[in-house]
Amino acid sequence: MNSPDLFEQIEQLKKAKNAVILAHYYQEPDIQDIADFVGDSLELARAAQKTQADLILFAGVHFMAEGAKILNPSRKVLLPDLRAGCSLANSCPPEAFARLRAQRPDHFVVSYINCSAAIKAQSDVIVTSSNVVKIVEKIPRDRPILFAPDRNLGAWVSQKTGREMLLWQGACIVHETFSERKIAQLQVEHPDAELIAHPECEPTLLAKAQFVGSTSALLKYVIASGKQKFIVATEEGILHQMRKQAPGKILIPAPPNHACACNECPYMKLNTLEKVLAALRDETPEIKLSEELRLKALAPLERMLEWSV
Ligand code: 13P
Ligand code: SF4
Repeated sequence: MNSPDLFEQIEQLKKAKNAVILAHYYQEPDIQDIADFVGDSLELARAAQKTQADLILFAGVHFMAEGAKILNPSRKVLLPDLRAGCSLANSCPPEAFARLRAQRPDHFVVSYINCSAAIKAQSDVIVTSSNVVKIVEKIPRDRPILFAPDRNLGAWVSQKTGREMLLWQGACIVHETFSERKIAQLQVEHPDAELIAHPECEPTLLAKAQFVGSTSALLKYVIASGKQKFIVATEEGILHQMRKQAPGKILIPAPPNHACACNECPYMKLNTLEKVLAALRDETPEIKLSEELRLKALAPLERMLEWSV
């Protein structure tokens, strides 16, 4: 339990330094509650681009904070814990990716935003799970597509759009952990519950889901649905917003394979309220990247924002 004093100190520092806190839905509840804006990765990228604040504290993972710096270089961008990475981003080393690209020079390169600036810089367009279908549909039919780094999201988009794609074989450690056997058991116990899932889950799970979408789309679905009960297959942090914005709905987190907390993203959960306070106070750790790399990564990110309006 975080002390009220901690909240107060953060609020004071935010005002004194003209800082904004942007938080992803997978952050711990207290961080979501103190944030000025909570959203999915596309909404957070837009918020980072638009903000007039002098200081952006990004409560999320490294690729998200790096994206904020790419889009808004004149602001100082802080990440409470620099070790907050992402298994998907880690699965795609820039040198190996460059080798594959060199073998397929005719391919249009679509990269999921969950990747490093060095991968973004090698891409034609960036996508998030909320705009990926729309963006892939804009790519000329005669261009072959290379999709990185998430094989599950790629396979789902390929099926939705009918576009064949060469898939980089990366995956998210959280979304690949759900036990289909335990979910099937839950569905027997709760026949009135709908299974809703993030597209980073494995294809066999997605095939059984009644609704598939980004974190924001899942939240909107639960709020708007006439149904009362949901089995939610994504990181458990989103349940906090679902409980706040759809009180009364029954939410069952999809169980992981083992008796572990594997449906929590270990990277997202490295951020704590204490680290948020320390980062605001000391203005570190800061995201830094060379202007050359920033400009290369900016072009496909801007294309994403243009193509997803
Ligand atoms: P969203 O774009 O749906 O917020 O997903 C981000 C993410 O990291 C999912 O694991
Ligand atoms: Fe990366 Fe998965 Fe964590 Fe999202 S949930 S940040 S994809 S490791």
